[in-house]
Amino acid sequence: MCGIVGILGKEPVADSIVEALRRLEYRGYDSAGVATLTSSGIERRRAVGKLRNLAELLARAPLPGTSGIGHTRWATHGGVTETNAHPHVVGDVVVVHNGIIENFRTLKDELIAGGAVFTTETDTEVVAQLLAREISQGASPRDAVKAVLKRLQGAFALAMLFKGEGDLMIGARNGPPLAIGHGDGEMFLGSDAIALAPFTNRITYLEDGDWAVVSHNKAEIFDAENRPVKRPMSFSQASSLLVDKGNYRHFMAKEIAEQPEVIGHTLAEYVDFAERRVRMPQALPFDFAKLDRITIAACGTAAYAGLVAKYWFERIARLPVEADIASEVRYREAPLLKNGLAIVVSQSGETADTLAALRYCKAQGQHTLAVVNVPESTMARESETVIRTFAGPEIGVASTKTFTCQLVALACLAILAGRQRGTLSAEAERELVGALIATPRQMTETLKDEKHIAEIARELAGSRDVMFLGRGLNYPLALEGALKLKELSYIHAEGYAAGELKHGPIALIDETVPVIVIAPHDELYEKTISNMEEVAARGGRIVLLTDDHGHKSFRTITVPKANAFVSPLLYAVPVQLLAYHAAVFLGTDVDQPRNLAKSVTVE
Ligand code: AGP
Repeated sequence: MCGIVGILGKEPVADSIVEALRRLEYRGYDSAGVATLTSSGIERRRAVGKLRNLAELLARAPLPGTSGIGHTRWATHGGVTETNAHPHVVGDVVVVHNGIIENFRTLKDELIAGGAVFTTETDTEVVAQLLAREISQGASPRDAVKAVLKRLQGAFALAMLFKGEGDLMIGARNGPPLAIGHGDGEMFLGSDAIALAPFTNRITYLEDGDWAVVSHNKAEIFDAENRPVKRPMSFSQASSLLVDKGNYRHFMAKEIAEQPEVIGHTLAEYVDFAERRVRMPQALPFDFAKLDRITIAACGTAAYAGLVAKYWFERIARLPVEADIASEVRYREAPLLKNGLAIVVSQSGETADTLAALRYCKAQGQHTLAVVNVPESTMARESETVIRTFAGPEIGVASTKTFTCQLVALACLAILAGRQRGTLSAEAERELVGALIATPRQMTETLKDEKHIAEIARELAGSRDVMFLGRGLNYPLALEGALKLKELSYIHAEGYAAGELKHGPIALIDETVPVIVIAPHDELYEKTISNMEEVAARGGRIVLLTDDHGHKSFRTITVPKANAFVSPLLYAVPVQLLAYHAAVFLGTDVDQPRNLAKSVTVE
């Protein structure tokens, strides 16, 4: 998933485009490039690797031109090379693209049969080639785009410039997000409002199928049937300030440390501290008492937050929940009965699979609710109800503070559901809300143990395989712990429901395999400890995560004793720190791990 930017400016735009791309680098950092219209036609600069490589190239070889487009790449088709880096130029056309052109092979064969010569391995080049062919046959840029859009299948957000057309930029969206930024005598295109925040907060989001003809003073928008349409302009809250690391070595370290504060912010939105009651800032357009079922769909870490919520809704509100990964929900075509609620969980609010699952559930007549960290995201705009997490911008690709804030928001929803369905007494609600209110303090306590956790992490760093075990609410946390270690340290790790071990995975156990056991002193403690003993009996190297009163004969990381209801929140900190310190010890790129991107806007 790439980041794209376009500017029709009054001054040379190359540096401004790099400034905007800096805010999109979380989307992909395989390569970056800028192209502008100059007196000699189309000029571009591209560099493999981090955006700073492009910035250094531009410092050595500045790019003139007041009309330009730029791109930061997450490679889907074609290796990570300068040749495959965007922008792609063919004839009088230059294109940047986020998404996947699924029928690019068919189009490429047709173009090659027509004499076209391809220079890259990318799917995107077919767009530039098709446009160049239309224009070489006399079509105007606008007509060329209209003709080409009809030929493309798949997901795309595009920004296009045309030689000799300094007052023209065309953008198109089908899937990945694209926004227009309105300036004073300047106009912008960007993958999101955050990228355009340094220039304007007046934003118009394109909808699927839209394309826009932009000049310095206006934007004409057309829908998929090429009918002129009006899309609302909104005033974005996105900050123009680039988030900085402060005194932290990595954004991830800062974001882990911010958790007590930001879950406090999220609690403040959904909890009446004095009454120890959940109170929603807006009335929900449905009543939990009238619901028969909840479907939760999300990806990655957000899916694990959804899985924890399944346990909460089923236990507290006696409401059946199907929690599944979004890429399966969208194609499984599960029959969703009426009186159902679909909850999607997402940091970015733009993850393609989760967005598609939301649209599927909506089409199945479900109420829709999005738990998102980006209030202006597509999921927020397309859901009936938006439950914001107040984690603030999360820059580290590995999701940490948004995970725990998602848990807080989902916990409040489960408590409200219990009250509305009469399965949770006022007294019990006060107890659970009290437990939530105590978590920032308890997390602060756990964070103080970082040095000790880092020591254990350094031992883990030498392993080839690591296992995480948990039961009940902490089974999803075992999955999350394994995901964090995988994506940050590149060590193979698996999370298992502790009870599942003896049905196969225990065969992997020997003295080379560390096993992280998540065992708060809850109703499943003894069961989990028995599973831990089975592992110890086979020489597994145990690391036990437990509370003050836990088992003492193994390497132990202690978390303050708390109500079992909030254990996924508290035990998130040590599993995040284990992964973080293993990665630091191994010297991997903590904030931008290889092959990953923060927002996955393609399938
Ligand atoms: C988690 O650390 C990863 N960044 C990834 O699994 C992420 O959770 C997933 O891509 C979902 O992203 P979203 O929350 O923005 O939808």
